[in-house]
Amino acid sequence: MRGKLWGGRFKSNTDKIVDDFNASIHFDKRLFREDIEGSMAYCKMLAKQGIITKGEAATILNALHEIYGEIESGNFTFNETLEDIHTHIEKALVEKIGPLGEAIYTGRSRNDQVALDTRLFTKNSTIRIINLIKDFQLSLIELAEKNQDLIMPGYTHLQRAQPVLLAHHLLAYYEMLKRDMERYKQALKRTNVLPLGSAALGGTTFNVDREFLSRQLKLETITANSMDAVSDRDYVLEFIFTSALLMMHLSRLCEELIIWSTQEFDFIEISDAFATGSSIMPQKKNPDIPELIRGKTGRVYGNLISLLTTMKGLPLTYNKDMQEDKEPLFDTVDTVKKSLIIFSRLLKEIDFKEENIKEAIEKGYLVATDLADYLVSKGMTFREAHHLVGDMILSAKKGERELHELDLSEMKRFSTLIEKDVYGWLDPLSCVNRRNIAGGTGPEMVKKALTKAKEELKS
Ligand code: ARG
Repeated sequence: MRGKLWGGRFKSNTDKIVDDFNASIHFDKRLFREDIEGSMAYCKMLAKQGIITKGEAATILNALHEIYGEIESGNFTFNETLEDIHTHIEKALVEKIGPLGEAIYTGRSRNDQVALDTRLFTKNSTIRIINLIKDFQLSLIELAEKNQDLIMPGYTHLQRAQPVLLAHHLLAYYEMLKRDMERYKQALKRTNVLPLGSAALGGTTFNVDREFLSRQLKLETITANSMDAVSDRDYVLEFIFTSALLMMHLSRLCEELIIWSTQEFDFIEISDAFATGSSIMPQKKNPDIPELIRGKTGRVYGNLISLLTTMKGLPLTYNKDMQEDKEPLFDTVDTVKKSLIIFSRLLKEIDFKEENIKEAIEKGYLVATDLADYLVSKGMTFREAHHLVGDMILSAKKGERELHELDLSEMKRFSTLIEKDVYGWLDPLSCVNRRNIAGGTGPEMVKKALTKAKEELKS
């Protein structure tokens, strides 16, 4: 059967329904750059090894250039019967320069070819995402610096816990994203490996210079086992896992923005340009963007589980199941890139409502830990102090008062250790100031952390 790369041993044509079901061209055409880049390097290597002449190599490279231009400009016709991007480019090459076009498939299978394309694509996407994380971190730092002195309630169990600097809260996300970036960089090392030379599964019989190919393609090293090279997709999975973790971090910040913009909290205002309304309730202003990022996190988790499940039962080596790796990969790349880009912009569209936040830190006994610490400084054990402050809160609650609203004689009834200096411990600013411990919310520490973060982003 003519027309198919594998048509030799077939007497009749494939059924149309089979062509349709088998085809991946509608999504893997996205790999055309990587596919052509790989073929160009391979062509140069064949010439260097004397497998084709320099003149032949020049003709092939020229034609590949043309095909690249045609696809890039939208002047290339894709056709479902040609299965995938590898077949399309090979056929186009032969159409342009005749049987010579087939020369660059000497010693190469679609199995090592698709592995290379997928590695290059994952690598390029990882580098792009690392840069987008940096942009996002910069926006976080800008927002922190814009509100450098703002004290807000810190929460545990979503109950007011202790006063903290907003900048400290935002820098927590800087740290999470810093680890995500490290994970992408580590995964990149394992992606940056050349599978070519593995051919179908056992390695090629031709004198392919793999080291030369890896240098040409700017890959760090070559795969050590041809069967592993054509059959594993762990680098794709690592990429998606790292992305899932990143999305989880973004989603948590989204959740906070959503909560903070409720009427119940009313801590922030998202600009009109970055919010939406309701078609029926005229008063509504909805935080769709953080909601969507939170929602899209689920997609990326789905992609991870989808590919893990696809891979789990596959015997070595290549199986067509593995064609199912691309859509989860592409969808993850698109989702993560779009989410990071819009989230960076969104951070510039947030205003903190200082008055409301100030009111919130004054109610809810956020300084209770500090009052207990005060008693410890006067010689009480912490457990006893904890209990005593609990009693004081119960009593204050009856009169709907905060701790700093109790007068000294009332406080002394709980403990004679309490003196006038106690009031200095009950002010949220002093609570924050006392936490100048490494990693704490004390203003000096937060300032240092901001400086350090900015330095890290420069390097
Ligand atoms: N479209 C295929 C994929 O993405 C390319 C590899 C095909 N190899 C094969 N032996 N049929 O996995």
